[in-house]
Amino acid sequence: MVSPTSLTGSAVAEPDAVHDAVTTWYAAHARDLPWRRETATAWHVLVSEIMLQQTPVERVVPVYEAWIARWPTPGALAAEASGEAVRAWGRLGYPRRALRLHAAAVAIGERHDGVVPDDLEQLRALPGVGEYTAAAVAVFAYGRRHAVLDTNVRRVLARLLEGAGQPAPSLTRPERLLAASVLPPDDETAAVWSIGLMELGALVCTARTPSCAACPVRGACRWYAAGRPPYEGPARRGQPWAGTDRQCRGRLLAVLREAEGAVAGAALRAVWDDTTQRERALDGLLDDGLVVTAGPDTYALPG
Ligand code: ADE
Repeated sequence: MVSPTSLTGSAVAEPDAVHDAVTTWYAAHARDLPWRRETATAWHVLVSEIMLQQTPVERVVPVYEAWIARWPTPGALAAEASGEAVRAWGRLGYPRRALRLHAAAVAIGERHDGVVPDDLEQLRALPGVGEYTAAAVAVFAYGRRHAVLDTNVRRVLARLLEGAGQPAPSLTRPERLLAASVLPPDDETAAVWSIGLMELGALVCTARTPSCAACPVRGACRWYAAGRPPYEGPARRGQPWAGTDRQCRGRLLAVLREAEGAVAGAALRAVWDDTTQRERALDGLLDDGLVVTAGPDTYALPG
């Protein structure tokens, strides 16, 4: 346990003790996830981070394992039709991520000789790779020293450093600077600090029911010291599902994934009754390039 001392002067009291507490906790409590193993390549890390963007770990693991067994390198994926990526994406949701991952594999071949880059700018220039994912790959795959700010890390830092129950709805420049200012000085420890904060946010410092009694940095936490005041900022938008266009798109795409080749429009009409919504969803899938027309009233995954 880190002892509470003067909180003035730096963002956190006794930064070395706080770093030690998080990295030691991580070594003892981290889940054994396939993309964290010694054998994971930068491509594996990129695949996992894209899959994890909006999907829980338990749902990602089986799809990730099948994906990297089939496409162990970016070149292996780039050599196949993008529709195969959409098919293998299965039920992970937000399937445009599959198309972007395929496009990223093609770009890695064209721009980087088939090797996932380690540079933030080059990573960010890849399809589907935003600020978080670029940092995650640079840090977790290559051991570079950058802050990695996903929702879990942002919540832990908001509580620990600022005494706020939740971070702001979107990432701000002061928040980036604050996170960078508390990174451990050496690259290797900084990487374990970031993954440790992420795991702490996932397992202990959760949004609704944090287990402060099990927290290795409770003694340094401003939110805990302030009596865990509730969050008073703007509400976050939920992501509805039942009856939405997103659910309808998922049903239509499932028909195409499970078919060997093209399917007749009738097969799509059979899975969703509301004609207006179904047509809107199909138009959206066609616009996004997730589905293509293969003939009159006939549809397929992209070639
Ligand atoms: N390990 C590395 N990145 C992760 C993520 N985004 N979610 C869960 N575990 C991870």
